[in-house]
Amino acid sequence: MSWFKNLYASSIGKKLVMAITGLIIFGFAVGHMSGNLLIFLGPDVFNGYAAALQGNPPLLWGTRLVLLASFPLHIFSAIQLKRLNAAARPSDYGEWKPQASTRSSRTMIWGGMVLLGFIVYHLLHFTLRVTQPGLEDLTYNLDGAMVHDAHRMVLMGFAPTAMGIFHVVLYVSAMVALCLHIYHGVWSAMQSLGLNHPKYNVLRKQVAAAFAFVLLIGFSAGPLLTIAGVTKAAGEAFTKQSTQQVDSDATVRR
Ligand code: HEM
Repeated sequence: MSWFKNLYASSIGKKLVMAITGLIIFGFAVGHMSGNLLIFLGPDVFNGYAAALQGNPPLLWGTRLVLLASFPLHIFSAIQLKRLNAAARPSDYGEWKPQASTRSSRTMIWGGMVLLGFIVYHLLHFTLRVTQPGLEDLTYNLDGAMVHDAHRMVLMGFAPTAMGIFHVVLYVSAMVALCLHIYHGVWSAMQSLGLNHPKYNVLRKQVAAAFAFVLLIGFSAGPLLTIAGVTKAAGEAFTKQSTQQVDSDATVRR
């Protein structure tokens, strides 16, 4: 383990820890966003998906434990890197002028704090369900099995009420912060992991921008289309269509 200590003591080591934990959190975000998009397919599909995750303890707890380790490591190495950079900055050359790199790293720290605040609220809201009255005991009959009604919880979370408007503004603003954080994060993680040939600089920025944009749209679609009434209507249309399909398949079989 001493090689790890020696590596972590260097600024390269801290950057590597940040890059790896950042990519783990990013991978989770891509999976989470894809799962969230199932909300448009109605309660059967969305609640079935949520119940399948809840009913798979190794996957659920494995993911939770990896995230529980990744978030503090990511934040801790960010703080230590910031301190290292501040200590290395020459202070006796007159007035200090901010460089582009220090400006973006400050933005990353502030953006990261906004995201941390959002994630704490988000877990209290949708996982512990303690911030919004009515979300505590929602159940759904999924083919005879009573499961948590995650679909209804999201419709209520982003309903056209004062609280729903507050949530839409909060979630979409946080997703803008996530998008900026991911843009810079994916770009610099690729650099820390060795993809830093000048030939690929433009490509790295384009890849990072594409990922950030897809996450911004994919995550924001849920809150924005729910408050606009589209999520409920799309879910009803999809459920009706699949019920008709099941009925016509049964008629053909008979
Ligand atoms: C508009 C954005 C988002 C929406 C609508 C959303 C929606 C949800 C919902 C509905 C749940 C509860 C699932 C269930 O009860 O089965 C959940 C849980 C969770 N979300 Fe999000 N989410 C969003 C963004 C994020 C982001 C950006 C992160 C962090 C990268 C995140 C991290 C989590 C975590 C860690 C859980 C708890 C999973 C568990 O039970 O262990 N979410 N989210």
